[in-house]
Amino acid sequence: MSDGPLAGKVALVTGAARPRGSGRATALALAKAGADVACLDIARPYASAPGHGTATNDDLDAVVAEITALGRRAVAARADVSQEDQVEAAVAQATEALGTVTLVANVAGGSGPGFGLGPLISLPEAEFRHVLDVNVIGTWLVSRACAARMVAAGVGGRICNVSSQAGKRAFALLGAYCAAKAGVILLTQTMALELGPAGIAVNAVCPGTVDTDLINPNGLFEQLVGGPEGLHAYLEREIPLRRLQSAEEIAATIAWLLSPDAAAITGEAVNASAGQTMV
Ligand SMILES: NC(=O)c1ccc[n+]([C@@H]2O[C@H](COP(=O)([O-])OP(=O)(O)OC[C@H]3O[C@@H](n4cnc5c(N)ncnc54)[C@H](O)[C@@H]3O)[C@@H](O)[C@H]2O)c1
Repeated sequence: MSDGPLAGKVALVTGAARPRGSGRATALALAKAGADVACLDIARPYASAPGHGTATNDDLDAVVAEITALGRRAVAARADVSQEDQVEAAVAQATEALGTVTLVANVAGGSGPGFGLGPLISLPEAEFRHVLDVNVIGTWLVSRACAARMVAAGVGGRICNVSSQAGKRAFALLGAYCAAKAGVILLTQTMALELGPAGIAVNAVCPGTVDTDLINPNGLFEQLVGGPEGLHAYLEREIPLRRLQSAEEIAATIAWLLSPDAAAITGEAVNASAGQTMV
């Protein structure tokens, strides 16, 4: 058995494929802590959501290879988290390959151009629904599939969802995303209530502004806020620690909430935002 506080545990991470993403960083952090990891991702360009990102099959295979190189077991599970049948098949596949999943990181999600970004009075209905489907329904479907197996096996576990500062305060042009990420927080709290007696803890992480390709492909974020001077002004104005967060920092918070060190914590929505979110 491998070393580390999560040795012998089986984890499942959604959104695990994108090279600079928080999900990939989480999968690696959990593996370094000793867990075997099922890496779930849509892992294909999702043409219906331009600007939302293009994790590929190769990206997913790469993170699985990295985990295997660390001496842990890993499996690639290709699924769209918003599709019930795909989630069921992926969790069944992960369980068959690695054993009962008792640590779940629901990282898949997002918003962007063509995927819910824009004023609420002109946002297409299909875009709003898609944001809810991926961020809220997807988080619930994966949690349901894993938690039901934990309960059936009579084992406890830990689930960590990814919400956002946008789940705690309003942002213009991000209405669908705000509604979805606020939904993730109440989903987290309700599942914590319902699953606590079975020994399953459920928490959420609320990142602020993270330097991943979701918001910052090829330095786009700096361009959007007006170049280097605009970025400096944004950081001065918005973020007490004066910097964006890294995927590794979000991953570390998720890994902590999934670890025995967080044993007393459930139903919380923990900010990991360099001080940008203070609610
Ligand atoms: N980047 C930020 O500033 C920021 C801030 C707050 C919250 N978040 C949240 O953090 C999480 C991770 O975001 P990130 O910044 O690492 O983005 P990212 O785009 O790098 O990663 C998202 C991952 O989810 C996968 N994915 C997307 N839709 C999917 C689906 N339907 N089914 C399965 N997999 C899917 C993508 O392929 C990708 O690997 C998201 O939930 C996002 O909303 C990000």
